[in-house]
Amino acid sequence: LSIIDCFILALGYVLLFTPHTPVASFIIQCTIDDRVTRVAWLNRSTILYAGNDKWSIDPRVIILVNTPTQYSIMIQNVDVYDEGPYTCSVQTDNHPKTSRVHLIVQVPPQIMNISSDITVNEGSSVTLLCLAIGRPEPTVTWRHLSVKEGQGFVSEDEYLEISDIKRDQSGEYECSALNDVAAPDVRKVKITVNYPPYISKAKNTGVSVGQKGILSCEASAVPTAEFQWFKEDTRLAPGLDGMRIENKGHISTLTFFNVSEKDYGNYTCVATNKLGNTNASLTLYGPGAVIDGVNSASRALACLWLSGTLFAHFFIKF
Ligand SMILES: *[C@@H]1O[C@H](CO)[C@@H](O)[C@H](O)[C@H]1NC(C)=O
Ligand SMILES: *[C@@H]1O[C@H](CO)[C@@H](O)[C@H](O)[C@H]1NC(C)=O
Ligand SMILES: *[C@@H]1O[C@H](CO)[C@@H](O)[C@H](O)[C@H]1NC(C)=O
Ligand SMILES: *[C@@H]1O[C@H](CO)[C@@H](O)[C@H](O)[C@H]1NC(C)=O
Ligand SMILES: *[C@@H]1O[C@H](CO)[C@@H](O)[C@H](O)[C@H]1NC(C)=O
Repeated sequence: LSIIDCFILALGYVLLFTPHTPVASFIIQCTIDDRVTRVAWLNRSTILYAGNDKWSIDPRVIILVNTPTQYSIMIQNVDVYDEGPYTCSVQTDNHPKTSRVHLIVQVPPQIMNISSDITVNEGSSVTLLCLAIGRPEPTVTWRHLSVKEGQGFVSEDEYLEISDIKRDQSGEYECSALNDVAAPDVRKVKITVNYPPYISKAKNTGVSVGQKGILSCEASAVPTAEFQWFKEDTRLAPGLDGMRIENKGHISTLTFFNVSEKDYGNYTCVATNKLGNTNASLTLYGPGAVIDGVNSASRALACLWLSGTLFAHFFIKF
C-alpha cells in the first residue's frame, strides 16, 4: 500500500498577510513511497507541477522536493485567490490516488476608506463611511467616543447616518473593523457641529463710584462667538477711555477701571458667529439702585433696622 499523505506546511492551515504586501508563503507536501510512479500537484483542477515539469505559468509556484518519499511545492506571496483545494495526485501500479488539502487564507481587518473630519451646521444630516477589508469579512461598528462608556454604540454598519444632528452629537467617532484573525483596526473621525450663540451667563453688577466694575457675558457657540458691547444704542469701541473689553474663549468682560456716575446704566452684550447672533442686557448699578429685585431685599433689611433703632430709642426714653 502506498502512503499518500499530503499537508500544508509553513504557517499551517492558516495564513496571515497584510493586504497589498503579501508576506506569507506556504508549502504543500506529499509523503509518498517508492511504488509511486507519477506525482502531480493541482490547484483545483489545474496542474501546477507534474513531476519536475512546471505546468503553471505563475512564477510564485516553485518545486522544492521531488524524491521517492516526498513531493512538495512552494507557493510564495500568497493572496486570497490562492484559497481553495490543492490536490496531490499519484499513480501507483496503475492505480491513481489523490489526497487533498484545503488552504484557507485569512486577512487581518484593515480600514481602507474612511470619511474625513467634518464640520456641519446643527440640524443637518451627516453620513460617515468606513470601508474595511479582511477575511473573514470584518464587522464594522461606529461608536461615539464623547459619551459615557457602554452607551456609545451608534451603528453596527459601515455607514453611520445621523439626521438632524444636535450639538451634543459632536466629537470623536471611532470606526472599528473586527474579525477573529487579528486585533481590530480602529480609526477616528471628528464631527464638529456648528450652532448659533446662546448666552448662558450675563450678570448685573453693583459697584460704587471710584471702584473697579466688571460686567461679564458668557456665550456658548461653535464656532466661538465674537462679542460686541453696547451702551444703549452706542457700540463701545475696544480702546475706549477708562474701560477695557476682553474676550477669552466663551467669555467677554467689560471692565471699568474707575466707575463714575455716567457709567451706570444698561449695557447690551451681543454674541455673534456665522450662524447668528443673540444678546443679553446687563446693568451696572450703584449703591441704592433697585435692579431686578437685587437691592430690594437689602432695602427692606435697612428699613427693619431703622424701625428697630427707632423703637429702641423710644423705649429707652420712656
Ligand atoms: C489557484 O487557482 C485560482 C483560480 O484559478 C487562481 O486565482 C490562483 O492564482 C491559483 N493559485 C496558485 C498558487 O496557482
Ligand atoms: C472612498 O469612498 C468614497 C465613497 O464611496 C469614494 O468617493 C472615494 O473615492 C473613496 N476613496 C478611496 C481612497 O478609496
Ligand atoms: C477716579 O476718578 C475720580 C474722578 O474722575 C478721580 O478723582 C479719582 O482719583 C480716580 N481714581 C482712580 C483710582 O483713578
Ligand atoms: C435698564 O433695564 C431695566 C430692566 O431691563 C429697565 O427697567 C430700566 O428702565 C433700564 N434703564 C435704562 C436707563 O434704560
Ligand atoms: C437684541 O435682540 C433683539 C431681539 O432678539 C433685537 O431686537 C435687538 O436689536 C438686539 N440688540 C442688539 C443691540 O443687537
